[in-house]
Amino acid sequence: MSKPSTIAIDGFAASGKSTVAALLAEQLGYLYFDTGVMYRAVTWAVLDRGVDPADVAGVSQLAEQISITVTADGPADGRQATVRVDGRDVTWDIRQPQVDALVSRLSSYPRVRTALTNQQRRIAAAGSMVMAGRDIGTVVLPDADLKVFLLASPEERARRRYRQSLEQNRPADFDQILAAIIQRDALDRDNPVSPTHPAADAIIIDTDNLTIAQVVEQLKHLVETSCNEHA
Ligand code: DC
Repeated sequence: MSKPSTIAIDGFAASGKSTVAALLAEQLGYLYFDTGVMYRAVTWAVLDRGVDPADVAGVSQLAEQISITVTADGPADGRQATVRVDGRDVTWDIRQPQVDALVSRLSSYPRVRTALTNQQRRIAAAGSMVMAGRDIGTVVLPDADLKVFLLASPEERARRRYRQSLEQNRPADFDQILAAIIQRDALDRDNPVSPTHPAADAIIIDTDNLTIAQVVEQLKHLVETSCNEHA
């Protein structure tokens, strides 16, 4: 029986894909990579360096120049991984509301997407990889062995993100979170270069009434099924 080498998990903001993908990777003994942190890192760098977000060429150049690393080291403070931009730890900085508000817009710049997509393909080439994002099954890894798209209503996703912020002792306002999710959905869905949508061969899972553990169980079942198909 051959196991799938690459598993693509896509979904909208706060669909639970990062949590679920990380758990799945851990249970399968695979590597996990969350591509969203790369778009967030570029956005953080744009704000940090004072580049005009409307300057497409300037933002693109920065995205092509900076070094973004994602590693498993760092303090045990609730982080999934340590994200660095040119050596500086930005793991929590990239979760700031200023980054949330801008990231979808900068993610629509074609050269930004090309720069990050190329890096993501190199990272996935290691194999035994669960990669999470918006366009993994459609653009980054169209030949992924297993593609999953996670759905959840905006209200359920806002509730999850609200609880997550409180658990991490970060201030949160539910209505603001919900409004930001709805706005980001629209921007990500209508992204002219790489609109977020399920690949034709993706398996769609509606997670509204499922716990994280139940979603992970469904995914493990899919992995087993695809093992049998590949056997
Ligand atoms: O998953 P996330 O919320 O951390 O992603 C942050 C933003 O990055 C999201 O609004 C859209 C963008 N993104 C993208 O365009 N393509 C990806 N593969 C991952 C994220």
